[in-house]
Amino acid sequence: MSLPSLDTDSADLLRALTQISHAVSNAVSLEPIMQLAAQQAAVLLGAERSVLLLTDDTGGLRSRAWHGVESPSPKTFPGPLGERLIAQLAPALGEPSTESILAVPLVVRGRVTGLIAVALPPEREFSGSAEVILTALADQMAAPVENARMAEEVRQAQLLIENARLHQAERDARHAAEGGRDVLSAVLEYIPEGITIAEAPDARIQLVSRFGLELLGRTWEEVRGLSAEQQAFFFPMCRPDNDSPAPADDLPLTRATRDGTVVRGEEWVLCRPDGSRVPLLCEAGPIRDKAGKITGGIMAWREISTHKRMQEQLAQAQRLQAVGKLTGGVAHEVNNMMTVVIGFGRFVLQQIGTGHPLRGDLEQMLRAASRAAGITQQLLAFSRQQVLRPSVIAVEPLVENLAPLLRQLLGADKSLELRLSAEPLYVFADAGQLEQVLVNLVANARDAMGPGGQVSIDTTERVLDATYARSHPEVAIAPGPYAALMVTDTGVGMSPSTLARVFEPFYTTKAVGEGTGLGLATVYGIVKQSGGYIWLYSEVGLGTTVKVYLPLTNATHRAPVECERRPRPSGRETILVVEDEPMVRELARRSLEELGYGVLEADSATAALALIEQGAPSVDLILTDVVMPGLSARLMAEAVHRSQPELPVLFMSGYPGEDVVRRGLLSPNAPFLQKPFSLEDLSLRVRSLLDHASETPR
Ligand SMILES: Nc1ncnc2c1ncn2[C@@H]1O[C@H](COP(=O)(O)OP(=O)(O)OP(=O)(O)O)[C@@H](O)[C@H]1O
Ligand SMILES: [Mg+2]
Repeated sequence: MSLPSLDTDSADLLRALTQISHAVSNAVSLEPIMQLAAQQAAVLLGAERSVLLLTDDTGGLRSRAWHGVESPSPKTFPGPLGERLIAQLAPALGEPSTESILAVPLVVRGRVTGLIAVALPPEREFSGSAEVILTALADQMAAPVENARMAEEVRQAQLLIENARLHQAERDARHAAEGGRDVLSAVLEYIPEGITIAEAPDARIQLVSRFGLELLGRTWEEVRGLSAEQQAFFFPMCRPDNDSPAPADDLPLTRATRDGTVVRGEEWVLCRPDGSRVPLLCEAGPIRDKAGKITGGIMAWREISTHKRMQEQLAQAQRLQAVGKLTGGVAHEVNNMMTVVIGFGRFVLQQIGTGHPLRGDLEQMLRAASRAAGITQQLLAFSRQQVLRPSVIAVEPLVENLAPLLRQLLGADKSLELRLSAEPLYVFADAGQLEQVLVNLVANARDAMGPGGQVSIDTTERVLDATYARSHPEVAIAPGPYAALMVTDTGVGMSPSTLARVFEPFYTTKAVGEGTGLGLATVYGIVKQSGGYIWLYSEVGLGTTVKVYLPLTNATHRAPVECERRPRPSGRETILVVEDEPMVRELARRSLEELGYGVLEADSATAALALIEQGAPSVDLILTDVVMPGLSARLMAEAVHRSQPELPVLFMSGYPGEDVVRRGLLSPNAPFLQKPFSLEDLSLRVRSLLDHASETPR
């Protein structure tokens, strides 16, 4: 813009414009630029007061900078610009309003962006050049002011956005924190676990789950705010292998909170205020903030008594099964051999007569052999491979009949009390074996009691249901009615470590020569083989109860009457003995010959078939081992029966009959003789088969 001749010193104007231009180029914000413009306008025009207004987004004006106005306050002038507006400017410059006012617009690219106005007191007037000067100033100022304003608007918009974002984040965090707190307290209320949350650095308790308080046996008021040291004192915890309480530094929660240790699956024992001890499984770890600093710790723990008990019972059941397999195998072999030893021993004894000098030695040998055979019998019972002769027995009469013997066993200083079910309970079992069970249990009770004491035998009916089965998951219980036979003593009881092993054969705590450790193993085997269950309840100093459950049976099939002992039946027929083991074959031959029979021998099924084919002398019965190398006994019998369908074949085996049938070695109805057999067994079976065969025409 070209400046006309000026009344005022044009040098002043130039200086002012240069100063403004310099200030503008250095200014960083709107306020100082506007302030400078207002001030320069007043100075250049010799006015006392000036104001700068900017348009707002409604199209009105708002005063933004003043010079010479005392305590100015921003004012807005709504509506379009013009005379009316200028007339109204006085309030923006302050009272009195009768002064002369000069105002020029600030224009940027043809658009009015604001107004700059100066006021003179009433007694003075503006010079002729005043409008030119103020216009020059306004032109100089308009663009920088507008730029600064836009920059400021952008800044403000950014600030608003930033603020809004901050607010939102704050609100979200608050919501999350509130929501998190609600969820956490619900979790702590309902989770069936112990949870403890502590704060750093001294693991002071902040929160405990309801279940946790129950397990601790404490109220929230009692535990709140306890430090690690106080926790170690008020609810002591021990390592499972150590009876003294662990120091605070060793507790999982302390380690997690103080050192950031992550504890996984550690077993602990909690000592409760009532003196009980509860095994726990603990997990713990630190709580960290975003920067990774430890702010607290958390421990989760659960009670594992049931779990531990089941684990132990399962381990015991598995151990017994393994031991049973092993002892069963060994006992079979030994039993067979002992049968041979005793059999031949008796032959020798018969032959040497009463006055022989070696007779005493031989009798000693036979006694030892009988004892060995007795032990193997017990082992067979334990491994459930005994030959049982089960029948329907009423438990109560059996106990009553046995009571005098049991009293004798106990001795005069100890009493035996019977509390038997009024209605007899019938079970399907071997009576002799059941008596053996009672004798063994009462003998143990006697040994556990020292002088004096009482043993009681109870019988009652019990229904084992699904709930009961669940509490003993280590065995598969067949639900149904059972006869419960319980033997209780007032003896020393058993420690958990003894309890865990009592059923193992040869486990004894008794002195050498006082116990073989086979009593309970035998009981266990008999009960199991009879389809029953056995449990022991015992604590040191509190006596012992042994509970035997045998399945109840229908009383309608009565027990077969024991046959009276008759002289051994004998005969003159010819019997073919097929047996690969020479000693057993020899024993069978000698035994049969003693009974009067003629005997042929074969060491295999093939050899036996050859003998039969030769046909002289004719065979009346075949006595054969079941398990032999080469051709099986079953196939041999089938081959024989093709030509002589009525020829009786008696199978014998050391394996239980059901076992050989199950393995397909024998047909289910085949006549079977369990080894080892007595001379009585053999003579009876042979005679009855021969008699039966002779009744049916060949
Ligand atoms: N009623 C009981 N009270 C306390 N301890 C018992 C009782 N019954 C058994 N025991 C413990 O269990 C162990 C094993 O018993 P088990 O009857 O199998 O063998 P034993 O009595 O030692 O020897 P055996 O019966 O062969 O003469 C015993 O040594 C004893 O420690
Ligand atoms: Mg015993």
